[in-house]
Amino acid sequence: MSADYVVHGNVAVITLNNPPVNGLGLETRSAAVAALRRAESDDAVRAVVITGAGKVFSGGADIREFNSPRALTEPTLHTLIATAENLGKPVVAAIHGVCMGGGLELSLGCHYRVALPGAQIGLPEVKIGLVPGAGGTQRLPRVVGLEQGLNMIVSGNPVMSEKLAETKLFDRVFDAGLELVAAAVEFANGIADVRPLPKVRDLKIDYPNYEAFLQFSRNTVKAMAGPFPAPLECVECVAASVTRKFEDGLAFERERFLALAQTNESKALRHAFFAERAASKVPDVPADTPTRTIARAAVIGAGTMGGGIAMNFANAGIPVTILEMKQEALDKGLATIRKNYENTVKKGKLAQDKAEQRVGLITGTLAFEDIAQADIVVEAVFEDMEVKTQVFRKLDEVMKPGAILASNTSTLDLDRIADVTSRPQDVIGLHFFSPANVMKLLEIVRGAKTGKDVLATALALSKKIRKTGVVSGVCDGFIGNRMVEQYLRQAFFLLEEGALPEQVDKAIEKFGFAMGPFRMSDLAGNDIGWYIRKRRYAESPDIVYSPIPDRLCEQGRFGQKTGAGWYDYQAGDRKPHASASVNEMIAGYSKEIGVERRTISDEEIVQRLVFALVNEGARILEEGIALRASDIDMVYLTGYGFPLHRGGPMLYADTVGLSNVLAKIQQFARGRHGEAWAPAPLLERLAGEGKGFNG
Ligand code: NAI
Repeated sequence: MSADYVVHGNVAVITLNNPPVNGLGLETRSAAVAALRRAESDDAVRAVVITGAGKVFSGGADIREFNSPRALTEPTLHTLIATAENLGKPVVAAIHGVCMGGGLELSLGCHYRVALPGAQIGLPEVKIGLVPGAGGTQRLPRVVGLEQGLNMIVSGNPVMSEKLAETKLFDRVFDAGLELVAAAVEFANGIADVRPLPKVRDLKIDYPNYEAFLQFSRNTVKAMAGPFPAPLECVECVAASVTRKFEDGLAFERERFLALAQTNESKALRHAFFAERAASKVPDVPADTPTRTIARAAVIGAGTMGGGIAMNFANAGIPVTILEMKQEALDKGLATIRKNYENTVKKGKLAQDKAEQRVGLITGTLAFEDIAQADIVVEAVFEDMEVKTQVFRKLDEVMKPGAILASNTSTLDLDRIADVTSRPQDVIGLHFFSPANVMKLLEIVRGAKTGKDVLATALALSKKIRKTGVVSGVCDGFIGNRMVEQYLRQAFFLLEEGALPEQVDKAIEKFGFAMGPFRMSDLAGNDIGWYIRKRRYAESPDIVYSPIPDRLCEQGRFGQKTGAGWYDYQAGDRKPHASASVNEMIAGYSKEIGVERRTISDEEIVQRLVFALVNEGARILEEGIALRASDIDMVYLTGYGFPLHRGGPMLYADTVGLSNVLAKIQQFARGRHGEAWAPAPLLERLAGEGKGFNG
């Protein structure tokens, strides 16, 4: 039974019971409707209380039912709400913990609402590209007012119940610590005879000059919503709550909900929502796999990455020791960390005492003995196999048994690193992205011998340090950098053929990327890619690269850090300015190889870059390096600035249609450097079957 029914004196208490958040799935809805009908026909019952089992009232729709016909099977959420609202006896929603989405909409259909303080109240539908679809946009403004209602619905952010205590949303907010059901039953007894039954739908919104406010909201929201249509639709629905009759407003909301559900933007947001949850699941590592305790951490190397990685541990309250080779490098690394925290405090994002606490959790050392007792050690030294294997031999020697030995390598063979130790089962890749204290993505690299408990621990750790962990198999570059390699190769070929860095960057930024490839390289350091390419030239001499980026590096133009890269920079300024000398060098190279430069359309630029990602992504999926297409999308959304409203490269390819993607790739394969465009077999197969990467 997923809604329990118990009678206390004259009051029936219906408890929604569908762990973990009492989602309003079909069984729960059916049971709740049945319980309401039973209360109606039970002569002993004079009033009804609806509450939630455990720590929450209800988190809203059951996400397991999304995209399935069950969501639309009777009794729907609308039917449940109508049953409560039309009951002949008073219905009281007793709210605690979480009351969001459909849960809040249900409570708004009840005649009364009482709550404990500390409950999160919100309508988060906008975050998945929708408007609330069960009356939320019509009823919430009627109880909390036009402005607050609009803010809550457009932002999707929850508000604490005590902050809403003075609004008509709540008839009573009890003192903390009171027993909710007992207090609600007492309240229900007190109002049992009141007639007519109060209904939110009957309330009028009192807001003088609402038109001016709505127009102002439309303008602000439009400017902030970027490519997403839902926020503005939220405003229109709220507008309907003042300008239309209740039933007409409901119908308008329903229509907008259904229209938005069909948009690519909403599909992309829902995809990302599910992709994030799916990423933490590994088929052969069940949820009950034992994990190791991580109470102390260590980081090797206090450079760009080491410092940021250490901050992640400190931010999660885990003490961490950084080991360096030289005191000078250690001091420099620790000073950078302190400065980072100071800046966060200055921006008002962190309290001074919290920052001090975190800095206090980070210590430095030059001696391996000082880190021997750590539960996990993350190596972030130079990207060089010799240096890394030397460090891992040492770690094998000193670390306590059971310690997890992790490498932050971005491209190197993790299995070779693991094999220099006597405990390859304890070795794993934890590939952070720069800046490591900011970027959400953590690629978790599973080596051939990585223990399941080590993988499960890494997945749990990624949650603890608030990262999106995505599991990757071992290959050169793992998921993200292996794909970006093909994207960059195309960007460089485009330069040879007629494009310039600013055109390429502008085209892909217009598509929605946070940063184009050339701005990105200037930020990360062009020398990093140069170094990796040199290794690849030696290891895979058959792969053709444009030498243009190497020529750039030969001039010492490493990017922002040297004040010059693909662009020119002025001292103290990160703004890129087109570089006449770089552009001349590019045109000179085209001439040198006898390529007549042509005008390249923005459309071609986007297709060459994005389909290069897609084609390599298909290979990665087929080889099992990525467990699912949505994992690849997660990597690109959280680590590479791929536009969220397009849902990641693989979902984008599905949206375009795989047969269209394949046709373009086949066309590119007949063009210059066509060898880079051999279609991935999986892409060919799925396109032939009329399927997508995501089914
Ligand atoms: P970095 O050059 O800024 O820092 C490396 C640090 O390691 C230096 O401070 C160096 O003194 C120290 N170090 C070198 N050998 C050592 C040893 N044997 N014992 C102790 N300390 C030692 O390099 P960065 O950029 O932090 O990269 C580190 C690792 O992270 C590399 O494997 C790199 O591929 C990877 N990575 C880098 C990213 C980036 O954007 N910079 C992104 C993701 C991964």
